[in-house]
Amino acid sequence: MRVLVTGGSGYIGSHTCVALMAQGHEVVILDNLHNSKRSVLRAMTSLSGRAPIFIEGDVRDAGLLTSLFATQSVDSVIHFAGLKAVGESVSQPLAYYDNNVTGTLTLLQAMQVAGVRQFIFSSSATVYGDQPQVPYAESFPTGQPASPYGRSKLMVEQLLTDLAQADPRWHIALLRYFNPVGAHPSGEMGEDPQGIPNNLMPYIAQVAVGRRPSLAVFGDDYPTPDGTGVRDYIHVMDLAEGHIAAMQTTAARPGAHVYNLGSGEGHSVLEVIHAFSQACGKAIPWHVEPRRAGDLPAYWAATDKARHELHWHTRLTLNDMAHDTWRWQSSHPQGYEDAP
Ligand code: NAD
Ligand code: WQD
Repeated sequence: MRVLVTGGSGYIGSHTCVALMAQGHEVVILDNLHNSKRSVLRAMTSLSGRAPIFIEGDVRDAGLLTSLFATQSVDSVIHFAGLKAVGESVSQPLAYYDNNVTGTLTLLQAMQVAGVRQFIFSSSATVYGDQPQVPYAESFPTGQPASPYGRSKLMVEQLLTDLAQADPRWHIALLRYFNPVGAHPSGEMGEDPQGIPNNLMPYIAQVAVGRRPSLAVFGDDYPTPDGTGVRDYIHVMDLAEGHIAAMQTTAARPGAHVYNLGSGEGHSVLEVIHAFSQACGKAIPWHVEPRRAGDLPAYWAATDKARHELHWHTRLTLNDMAHDTWRWQSSHPQGYEDAP
């Protein structure tokens, strides 16, 4: 298939593009480089043995999308482009709704005109909000996401569900990621947060490589086995394969279908620190700080629906996630470095 990957130079998008090319698909990337660097394209090309088509531009640019669909004969769209920092979304809600909601709407309108109606959307487990039980299943009613970021994802899910109901020619997958971490096993691609990392694994990796002195563990008094928060971490390469499985299943099935992409297992913050310490062969300095506002104690994914309908499940373990992150971080201590 010929796949338009918006946000394809970002963290999850770049790994998905490499997985798509490895399976013989053609990739067209649209990214405005707001949160990614050009040098990821060199890594993708060297890992894939061929270059993806790269278009620098914005998903909110309707004119650009019209000409892109007129010239690129796209079969399917995987839509990663958007803003993702939960805390920043609280201080900049307009930027988040504009990029995430208006951006998706503009893209869907251009697809509608071009007659391209296969769409894979990057949603998030954050749409579940707080639930009375775990694991979180797709059949649960969505909850109250704790941030404008989360609400932007829920709005797009609702928009896509309405669209599929109104027009049965659309084939849509709503993929709710749990906690994506890890890197390409080559060590040549990985997560490259700008500024202070918001998320656990990249923060630990920067402590391990000496860029930060100590990890703050946000809360050790949760009702979990060791008192720290529990999450479902998923290796980015497994996540990439999940997108390809969803794209193939969706191509044969109209409607809007929701899938959790997670491992089905929960790990605590201390377990992640331990796995990373084993992977890098050194102790990770950490200290306890108060709970972070908006954090839930513990949740993980129900995985049966993705297993049965997408014929997909995760293969890589927490140790793989830690080893691959360390391989990337230790060989690229400053992340991707673009030539000036
Ligand atoms: P990322 O920031 O690394 O990648 C997003 C890419 O989109 C970046 O390359 C950025 O430059 C680009 N982009 C942003 N706004 C754009 C716009 N208006 N037009 C064109 N390009 C634009 O993020 P990621 O971690 O790869 O996440 C990808 C998607 O998955 C996002 O939609 C995110 O909300 C969602 N998601 C991520 C996580 C996670 O923990 N990483 C979890 C759940 C869902
Ligand atoms: C994991 C655990 C923290 C950092 C976020 C978004 C979610 C989704 C995935 C996009 C928690 C603890 C963290 C640190 C810590 N993204 N922690 N010290 O919050 O589960 O999910 O990313 O859709 O929407 O909210 O991920 O990696 O930030 O935190 O102790 O410096 O690690 O309290 O228990 P989170 P995370």
